[in-house]
Order: sequence, then C-alpha cells, then structure tokens
Amino acid sequence: MQRSSTSAASLHGLWSTRLAFILAATGSAVGLGNIWGFPYKAGANGGGAFVLIYLGCVLLIGLPILIAEITLGRKGRSSPITTMATIARRENRSPAWALVGAMGVLCGVLILSFYSVVAGWTLEYLQLAISGGLNGLNKERAVALLEGENGILASPTRQVIWHSVFMILTALIVGRGVKQGLESAVKLLMPMLAIMLVGMAIYSLTLPGAGEGLRFLFKPDFSELKTAGVLAAMGQAFFSLSLGMGAIMAYGAYLPRDVSIPKTAAIVAGFDTSVALLAGIAIFPIVYTYGLEPGSGPGLVFVTLPLAFAQSPIGQFLACVFFLLLFTAALTSALSLMEPATAWLVEKTKMDRFEIALGLGFVIWLIGIPSALAYNVLSGATLFDKPILDLVDGLTTNIMLPLGGLFIALFVGWKISKANLQNELHGFSARSYTVWLWLVRVVAPAAIVFIFLQEIGLLNFS
Ligand code: TRP
Repeated sequence: MQRSSTSAASLHGLWSTRLAFILAATGSAVGLGNIWGFPYKAGANGGGAFVLIYLGCVLLIGLPILIAEITLGRKGRSSPITTMATIARRENRSPAWALVGAMGVLCGVLILSFYSVVAGWTLEYLQLAISGGLNGLNKERAVALLEGENGILASPTRQVIWHSVFMILTALIVGRGVKQGLESAVKLLMPMLAIMLVGMAIYSLTLPGAGEGLRFLFKPDFSELKTAGVLAAMGQAFFSLSLGMGAIMAYGAYLPRDVSIPKTAAIVAGFDTSVALLAGIAIFPIVYTYGLEPGSGPGLVFVTLPLAFAQSPIGQFLACVFFLLLFTAALTSALSLMEPATAWLVEKTKMDRFEIALGLGFVIWLIGIPSALAYNVLSGATLFDKPILDLVDGLTTNIMLPLGGLFIALFVGWKISKANLQNELHGFSARSYTVWLWLVRVVAPAAIVFIFLQEIGLLNFS
C-alpha cells in the first residue's frame, strides 16, 4: 500500500496496483447477490424476460454509473459523504449533494444488516456440509432442511448466532483496514469460485431438466414479467454491481491516478455478470430435473445445489468447498458495504478505526436482528405479504440504490465541468467518452425515472 501526499488519501492509503483495485471491486461485486439473489429473483419474476432486462440495465445503466461512481471517488479521495461535499464545493454546486453520500452510507448499513443474516445461512450450510448433514439429501429433505418446521430458518437462536458470527468477522476485518488481507483472499478464492461454478454449470447441463432450465432462463416471455419484475431487475443490476450507495466510490477513493477507470469498470462488470449467469445455469436445470418451483423465493440456491451435491460420490467435499467459497464471497462484499460508513466516521471523529468498526458493527448487528427473526419469531410481521428481511431488501435494493444511482449520474453528467471530467477519464477514446456522457446524462436517468414511475403506476404501458 502506498501513501499519497493528498490529505484524505493519506488518511486512508491507496491501492498498490490496478489489479488490487480490480480484485477489491470484484470482491465487492461478486457475492450473495450473484449466487443467491440473481437466481431466486429471476425465478420469482418469470425467468428470461427478467434476465434480459437485467442485462440491459447492467449495460445501459449499471456500467455507465459504475464509471461515474469510481470517478467521483477518485476525485474526492474520501468517504462518500465527504467526497460529494468536496466535489460540490469545488464545482460551486449546492452543498446538499452531500446528502447523496449520506443516503448511501445509511443504505449500506441497512443492506449489510440483512446481508449478514443470509451470509449466516452459508455458514450454517458450511457447518452442515462438514458434519455430513447434507449427505444423501432428497428433494423433500432438502426443502425441509431450510424451510421445514425444524429447519434452519425456523430457529431464531441459530439465525442470530450465525448472523453474529458473520458481523463480528466483518467488523474485525474492516477495523484492520480493508486493504490488508483482502487482496490475497480475493486473488485466490474468486477464481476458485468461478472455476467451481463453471464445473457445476457443466454438470447441470447434463441433467434431464437442462433444456427446460435454460429455456426458462434465456427465452424471454414478456407475458410473465410484471412492472414489479422490471423494477426488481434494475435493482438487482445495482445490487450486484455494488452500485448507488458509495461502496465503489469509497474504493475508488483509493485508486491511483494513472489507472484507466473505464477499462477497469468494464472488467469488473463483465466478471460480475458472468458469475450471476453461471449461477443461473447451474441452478435452473436442477430446479426442473427435481420438479422444484423456480419461483420459490430466497431459499432457491440453498435447496437446489445441496441436492446436486448429494448425487456425487465426492459431494460432501464439493459442498464444503462451495459453501466456504460462497461465504468468502459474501464476506468480501460485506466489507465494501461497511467501508463507506466506517471511512466517514474515521474522518468525522478521528477516533481509532478499529473501535469505530466494532461499534458500527454492533449497531448493524442490532438492526439486523429483525431480519434474523423474519422467518421465525416475526414471521407474522409482514407487509404486502413480505417478511421483514424481504422488505428491507426491497426498500434498499429496488428503491434506495437506483435513487442513489440517479443522483450520481445527474451530478457527474451535469454538475462537473467537462475539463475536470475528461481529465479524470483519460482511458476513454473521444467517441466512447461521448457515448458514456450521454448515457450518464440522459439515458440512465431517464430509464431509472421511467421504471420508477411505471412502478408507482403513473405511467401505464403494460
Ligand atoms: N454486490 C454484492 C453482491 O452481489 C453486495 C454488495 C456489496 C452491495 N457492496 C454493495 C450491494 C453496495 C449494493 C451496494 O452480493
């Protein structure tokens, strides 16, 4: 890690290389969103049409805003709140733009509160895999194990314990500074996760349900897609790319100046999207082979993959490796969810980073307790038929992230002087720069507003 002479950067330090940033950003992007969220949301929203909209959102909204967010981070060189405030002041814009950073910090805290609970499920499955509890599963037992009367979700104690374990780990690592340790973990484990997913996808393609699974995932049937599904697809694009709340802005703050932002962003988005699609290709053939319900919800990955592992003579080993990798992927994502709030508190209070991380971790843990109890003690406490965890997920993923992204796009597209912008984006050719600028200025904001309005029912095209 290098030290730079600029004040904020010297407070937090810089990534040592471009690769280090790519690894950290990929570590942030690839997580439960790709392997747990994408397949179950695609399944619940009719499959192919959702996937197509999702891919469109990644390309036309996500990637341009990803570039914008990293650019802001590198310009501001601090936590999202301070970064937005600094740049707004420099460009003679309203100080109110700092609110975008504040909303992001809050959003990261809320996302991490339920993310930690779901990451806890991966720990529970890891422990089950190690103890042989996943061996010889059949369909009924795979479902009951998670969702049955005595299943994992039904136990408040176990939910809270694993949530606590995950939050403590996250806080300890963030407290030590995310750069230490992150690099090596991501460099080794992310490629392993990718290779394993490729292997699982290939296996799934040999199953009798492969044709039907692929058709479900890739053959768009727009009659199956509701406006809520379009909103969910856009939200999922933001969530999966870690976009719209300043996580990537905070990471961009540590990016050396000579690195090309557009190229780096394209690599991260490409990798993230590939992992999500691979997870889908691995999961849906299993769904159709065993006659499971594609729209069954958040349990989908935890029911399907153990079923497939149970068919293999080395299934126990594979399950151990897979859940360990999934847990690691969740952990590297969680770090980036906590980083904006931590960096901001470090700037504000000048207190010790470690103490801040532990205190903040405790608060996030507390906020996460209702999510840990969402499918047991509080299973009666639903709104629009959704348990608390799904509600917090929906509010942050589908509303707060796209809203944050909208403001980031407008700010970068319209409020920063051209010279300052071009200077930061030296990796672009003149042509791609123009395309990007208009995506950020008009296309992405218009698409976000359009999808919002349609969801609220002000525009009715479906
Ligand atoms: N992208 C991660 C995933 O797919 C989750 C995540 C990490 C995230 N940082 C974020 C989501 C910031 C939104 C905003 O699992």
